[in-house]
Amino acid sequence: MAMLTLEQQQTLAFEHVRNALVHRLGRKASGAQWQQFEDRLKTHLPALLDNLQPLYGHRPDFLAQLDALIEMAWTGWSERPKEMKALDEAREKNPTWFQSEKVVGGVLYVDRFAGNLKNLQDQIPYFKELGLSYLHLMPPFKVPPGNSDGGYAVSSYRDVNPEIGTIEDLRALAKALRKEGISLVLDFIFNHTANDHPWAQAAVKGDPAYKDFYFLFPDRTQPDIYERTVREIFPDEHRGAFSQLPDGRWIWTTFHTFQWDLNYSNPAVFNAMAGEMLAIANLGAEILRLDAVAFVWKRPGTPCESLPEVHNLIRAFNALARIAAPSLLFKSEAIVHPAEVMSYISPEECQLSYNPLQMALQWNSLATREVNLLQQALEKWHHLPHDTAWVNYVRSHDDIGWTFADEDAAQFGINGYDHRKFLNRFYNNRFPGSFARGVPFQENPDTGDARVSGTFASLAGLEQGDPLAVQRMLLLFSTILSTGGLPLIYLGDEVGTLNDPSYLNSPDEADDSRWIHRPRRDVARYEQRNNPNTVPGQIFTGLRSMIIIRANTPAFAGGELIGYRAANPAVLGYTRSSAEQTVLVLANYSEFEQHCPAQVFQAMPDHPVRDLLTDRTYNLRHGVTLAPYGVLWLEIRAPESGAHA
Ligand code: GLC
Ligand code: GLC
Repeated sequence: MAMLTLEQQQTLAFEHVRNALVHRLGRKASGAQWQQFEDRLKTHLPALLDNLQPLYGHRPDFLAQLDALIEMAWTGWSERPKEMKALDEAREKNPTWFQSEKVVGGVLYVDRFAGNLKNLQDQIPYFKELGLSYLHLMPPFKVPPGNSDGGYAVSSYRDVNPEIGTIEDLRALAKALRKEGISLVLDFIFNHTANDHPWAQAAVKGDPAYKDFYFLFPDRTQPDIYERTVREIFPDEHRGAFSQLPDGRWIWTTFHTFQWDLNYSNPAVFNAMAGEMLAIANLGAEILRLDAVAFVWKRPGTPCESLPEVHNLIRAFNALARIAAPSLLFKSEAIVHPAEVMSYISPEECQLSYNPLQMALQWNSLATREVNLLQQALEKWHHLPHDTAWVNYVRSHDDIGWTFADEDAAQFGINGYDHRKFLNRFYNNRFPGSFARGVPFQENPDTGDARVSGTFASLAGLEQGDPLAVQRMLLLFSTILSTGGLPLIYLGDEVGTLNDPSYLNSPDEADDSRWIHRPRRDVARYEQRNNPNTVPGQIFTGLRSMIIIRANTPAFAGGELIGYRAANPAVLGYTRSSAEQTVLVLANYSEFEQHCPAQVFQAMPDHPVRDLLTDRTYNLRHGVTLAPYGVLWLEIRAPESGAHA
């Protein structure tokens, strides 16, 4: 028999899958909606198969599982609300909308910011005042009573936590936000479920349909093998990666004992989570944050992080989204080595990714007053595939970990291990003279490893009373707004909210220092936000004006950046360009005035250039002096009409 070409094989596969579905759907498989589905299926089935086959192709139930998956995709598509389908169409015409200089993100806990979903809707005018067009709600789904890791232990992806409202409230909020040009972002917590999720309950009971949904072992044999090579994530809570059930069995729990890792070597798990994914997308979420993405595939003898199969899984989820929720985007949460972070970013995988390296190195530069590692990161790790973007942030709801590469640090004679120890001491208030007031998170007695908790303001010196804290904060805000990609603000930081030690009085939170930086909305601070005579006002109005200026600066769209070495160890430099404009950003990461000598700017225009932030002009050929923590956004090439020569 003649060999089939790849194209012929793909056509055959498509016909098989389509015909099987038509057979089951009967007359429902017709009309415009069906036609759209069929077209997308034809386009994206090859990618789906390419990625599912290496995972499940060897199993006798492969085709049956595939048929079930495609039927679910059809259900997802046929249930997709009209306005989401309209969004799908709009985004098809503007697929890189998230690269716009006008896009700014915010993140919050619904209960802590507004009490509940209905009240949150009343905050939309505030989000617009700040300039947000992207809003990430920390997980709003149903959780077990007591500790739920801030919502990251989900009992049902189809129900909202009754304390904050109903699924209808969430749907209404999504709609209201979209109407105001704000995209809703939700988590896709697919590495684990809560231990009281119905799948988990069925699995412990030995229900044949669910017994392979998790990693359950009768004794320590397998866990001991795995633990030789896996990292401990929450060593304070439990050592190793497994927890023991009351009946003596062991179960995989990368995070807390109540967060049970799903077993993706079982295709039924993939199908089940894919169904939840489409349901969340159809609620109105435009972007899903892929939580704990690196951990979703395990193999003995490996670290069980970022294995090649993880990429197959994400690509398969992505292909499914293209078929049934086409405008849906993924944001990767991989807080790992920079090369590993990069490996998740592509249009076929995650179009967006947190930029934990830039985040951590901004703090590093504040501590050392040297930009060496940050400048290197911008030149070495910043460049992304077309159609993707970084999410740049100062801090998140999680701890700050020092995930720079030891090899990179070694280039400057810095020993990674020792340097991380220094940074932990500096930010955890164990280093004389430090401005920071952080607290340690998950200190590992064996490895000496630790991370840092604290709000932006408290880590930047506001709590300690440092007179330059506001400048320091505006400097970091400037960096996340200008390096390219989507800036993301943890709400509360824009008014300088301080650490909240009250978590220590709550039994469910006391063991997890991350709660120190998840304070409730500080109403008094928000009331002062437009009064520049107050500290919250200085931070808020400073940030707000940077957001407005950025939104009117086409050079800040997209992610392209060229490093510009300013011949001063404390000054970070880079240029950003669009077709008609170039902006040179210079940022002083020290509390002293810094001078950049004239020689550095030989290639720069020999006429005064305008600082977009202050409207003052500078002649770079004379060199430039930056104020303590000062920032300049210098327009060195302006659109025709706006030339300031
Ligand atoms: C992610 C979340 C973190 C959570 C963990 C487990 O890293 O950001 O808050 O503890 O996943 O879900
Ligand atoms: C993330 C990270 C880990 C982080 C944790 C939550 O997945 O890998 O370093 O601390 O979850 O805080």
